[in-house]
Amino acid sequence: MKALISAEIEAYAEAHSMAESEVCYALRSETYKQMDCPQMLVGPLEGAFLKMMTQLVQAKRVLEIGMFTGYSALCFAEALPEDGTITTCEIDEESAAVARRFFARSPYGKKITIHMGPALETMQALHGPFDLIFIDADKQNYLNYYR
Ligand SMILES: C[S@@+](CC[C@H](N)C(=O)[O-])C[C@H]1O[C@@H](n2cnc3c(N)ncnc32)[C@H](O)[C@@H]1O
Repeated sequence: MKALISAEIEAYAEAHSMAESEVCYALRSETYKQMDCPQMLVGPLEGAFLKMMTQLVQAKRVLEIGMFTGYSALCFAEALPEDGTITTCEIDEESAAVARRFFARSPYGKKITIHMGPALETMQALHGPFDLIFIDADKQNYLNYYR
């Protein structure tokens, strides 16, 4: 399959964007070694984009739907202010176990609260408002998550 973006453009964008943290790099490497579908994580470029968005809207409360091994959650946590929080939803225990290990290694991990279970059920019990919401879970529920 032809790549949507050429390797040269991707390399240029990576070279000129915010570098990923050491913990994010380690988490990404571990995910690629250990998990079946590692390409589910956003990666350094999208991670830098999420960080920029967090700071642009001066978010303090972020909600993430679909955490996987925690790469994007950690990106948000790194960009949020000291008193910022991220609430993240995940259904798969194996992914969450990896995330927990890396959140514990990061000075920003304490900003992250994981809710296990189907995100639609989790969201019913959450209290907003959130400044930024990242929907990145099962595609068939996107409209339900948005509503
Ligand atoms: C694309 S991955 C998330 C990647 C993550 N945002 C990142 O960039 O590092 C989607 C995740 O959503 C989770 N998921 C799928 N359906 C779900 C549901 N109904 N409730 C909660 N999590 C779900 C999957 O287990 C998977 O880990």
